[in-house]
Amino acid sequence: SGWADKIHGLTIPADGPHQVQTLHEPIGVVGQIIPWNFPLIILAWKLGPALACGNTIVVKPAEQTPLSTLYLANLFLEAGLPPGVFNVVPGFGPTAGAALASHMDVDKIAFTGSTATGRAITEMSAKSNLKPTLLELGGKSPFIVCEDADVDMAVEHANLAVFFHQGQCCAAGSRTFVHESIYDEFVEKAKARAQKIIVGDSFKSGVQQGPQIDAKQFEKTLGYIKLGIDCGATLETGGDRFGNRGYYIQPTVFSNVEDDMSIATDEIFGPVQCIIKFKDLNEVIGRANDTPYGLVAGVFTKNMDTANTLSLALRAGTVWVNCYNVIDITIPFGGYKMSGHGREKGIYSLSNYLQVKAVVTPLNNPAWL
Ligand code: NAI
Ligand code: MG
Repeated sequence: SGWADKIHGLTIPADGPHQVQTLHEPIGVVGQIIPWNFPLIILAWKLGPALACGNTIVVKPAEQTPLSTLYLANLFLEAGLPPGVFNVVPGFGPTAGAALASHMDVDKIAFTGSTATGRAITEMSAKSNLKPTLLELGGKSPFIVCEDADVDMAVEHANLAVFFHQGQCCAAGSRTFVHESIYDEFVEKAKARAQKIIVGDSFKSGVQQGPQIDAKQFEKTLGYIKLGIDCGATLETGGDRFGNRGYYIQPTVFSNVEDDMSIATDEIFGPVQCIIKFKDLNEVIGRANDTPYGLVAGVFTKNMDTANTLSLALRAGTVWVNCYNVIDITIPFGGYKMSGHGREKGIYSLSNYLQVKAVVTPLNNPAWL
């Protein structure tokens, strides 16, 4: 992004006769462990700033999706990147990933994936060389539709917020909070919108929803759908596999979802919308924040005061107001609470990959006088 020749330290006006400057140095060898849901873009968010700051990289792509990373490594070779700067070690998490996270000569780990694996990586860091971590973990993000929202626009965005990419997004807006005064209208429209999603082979033009990544994610999602039905949420549409072959799931909408149902508390990572009713602003702030996660939030309202109140009160790394999934490379992205720490993209991403060295020199060295 043009940062590589703009990374410099500061001159610090310390008390006393010293010249103080900071040097921004590379951390060293950076391990990057990548998930399968966006294998190339999530890698790009990590390798761009790490290279710009002068580090070398060892990438462990997800076992489901190693090929784009290997292809990229070839392009780097072709472009003349010096050998050893960008290295790829494909393999499974508990072996290749754990070896990287536990390694004494790896100076930093950047990870995107599940909260459970983020915790395991933190433990491996603690038990080895205390390498700092950048963690971008899961979410159960609130999408709040206020009384005065443009309902049709909110329905459309809420649909994309949770169904985009088969629901396999850390930023999925997977708790759709809707004000009671527009709840029934919203549910009807959300159901109709979900029924319009074209499911099938993602390589065919016009298809909007392909299969889940693998059997594990397919079973996990169907398991949550069953839990939703069993605990009494209203199944508006979907609810089963799509067809009888492959890991396709019908776009599924639940209404009358209660906060403590597991479909409302857990990251499903599948095409399942959970529509929850609320009465007033203070109440929805408390309920939206009542989660161990804090990755993103969506707010739909035409009232500026409501937008400001919610933007300040929601404990999430991103608040999208009257929009969703606006993921530009300049906009910092990362989590509060158990959604992780550190920010990726743009200027904030650089601090993940730099050491700060203070250099202090006397200004009154008698030898100079
Ligand atoms: P995962 O977090 O276990 O895997 C992500 C990456 O971590 C892969 O490269 C994997 O090989 C590596 N890994 C796994 N165990 C490791 C270990 N012990 N040490 C070092 N590296 C390890 O995610 P998984 O099992 O594929 O999916 C489970 C759930 O995690 C999903 O259903 C979803 O809820 C969540 N997830 C969230 C993602 C996000 O974008 N935040 C991405 C992928 C999964
Ligand atoms: Mg796992």
